[in-house]
Amino acid sequence: MAVPNLALIFRTSVTAFFVSIAWQSGIAGDVPSTTSKQTPWAVPDIDKLPDDVWGKTVRYGRDLMTKTSSLIGPEVSDTSMRFAGNNLDCQSCHVKAGTREFGLPLVGVYADFPAYVARTGTVGTMQDRIQGCMERSMNGKPLPFEGPEMTALVSFMKFVSTGHPIGSATFGSGSGHIQKLDRAADPVKGGTIYANTCAACHGDHGQGQRNGKVGDAKGYLFPPLWGPDSFNDGAGMDKLINTANFVHSDMPAGTTWKNPTVSREDAWDVAAYIVSQPRPAMANLDRDYPNRLEKPIDTPYGPYADDFSAEQHKLGPFGPIEAAIKKLKAASK
Ligand code: HEC
Ligand code: HEC
Repeated sequence: MAVPNLALIFRTSVTAFFVSIAWQSGIAGDVPSTTSKQTPWAVPDIDKLPDDVWGKTVRYGRDLMTKTSSLIGPEVSDTSMRFAGNNLDCQSCHVKAGTREFGLPLVGVYADFPAYVARTGTVGTMQDRIQGCMERSMNGKPLPFEGPEMTALVSFMKFVSTGHPIGSATFGSGSGHIQKLDRAADPVKGGTIYANTCAACHGDHGQGQRNGKVGDAKGYLFPPLWGPDSFNDGAGMDKLINTANFVHSDMPAGTTWKNPTVSREDAWDVAAYIVSQPRPAMANLDRDYPNRLEKPIDTPYGPYADDFSAEQHKLGPFGPIEAAIKKLKAASK
């Protein structure tokens, strides 16, 4: 059993030196989007901001990331502020308020929007992307577009993206790129890994561990991974590739991509176990990805452009699906 506070030993601070070495040698590099240059990791210090209106707004954005459950969660006393549908925090997935490499960072993200979004087939803004996580990862409702919460979150994204120009790829974005298995990921094997390495924090039934008690809006010390208070089945974390990479780069908490704790194969299998568990359902998922050829191969719900089963899309093997999509794309040109 992993002992929860062991994680603290692993917690390392980012050193620009190590990062630049890894960056130059191309470890886990992202595919650059519009230029071949990648922007190295740099997160400005939020505490250096003055206590003026801008500084306060950026800090409110940071608090919304780290204490989401206490500010806009389903248990806050002001019922008009109950936007999230579960008691997760943005930081449950965007590690260290979105400032950790391959911990689903928000560093650099401000420069990526507006952008074409395959899920809707339209050009979406930064605000739209935040709403996506509100409705799926937070299983809730959208924030008012013009409200102080949305303004604060977008301000925070801009602040942590300082020095990341439009058109440059950011080193460390997403959760990583571990090599895929040539077999289906195995939820049964994953169950054993879960019991041995994850349950100590996330609970025997994936229910997590609260800071306080139900109803107090204090959120979780260790977030739930499935069940009624988790992300819904339309969320990015319910896709095997995201989850496996996140586990490899970031779990158990305190792990960094430079020193993974869980092996590549175990990361796939334990992720398979997690995505096979019950969670809230989102309506109208069949409307996602109107161009089916753009649908990520690990989307666990149809319809699909190819003939592979939902089961294979969920757990792999992905090689045959990738080959089929490539062929269909070539034929549609
Ligand atoms: C359950 C995990 C989870 C939670 C909680 C969560 N997100 Fe996310 N978020 C993701 C994943 C996974 C992605 C990217 C993967 C994808 O799009 O498939 C993402 C992407 C994003 C992006 C776009 C990042 C990029 O690289 O383009 C933004 C912005 C964002 N989230 C904001 C938020 C905010 C704000 C909250 C809290 C209100 C939040 N998220 C809560 C999992 C989560
Ligand atoms: C030491 C306690 C600890 C252990 C052990 C641990 N986690 Fe986590 N987990 C966390 C914390 C804390 C977070 C919130 C993000 C952060 O702060 O790193 C988290 C977040 C997550 C998330 C995203 C948030 C969510 O609600 O889904 C997933 C998925 C996850 N862990 C999976 C795993 C898996 C799989 C294992 C076992 C290989 C594991 N964790 C082991 C503490 C732990």
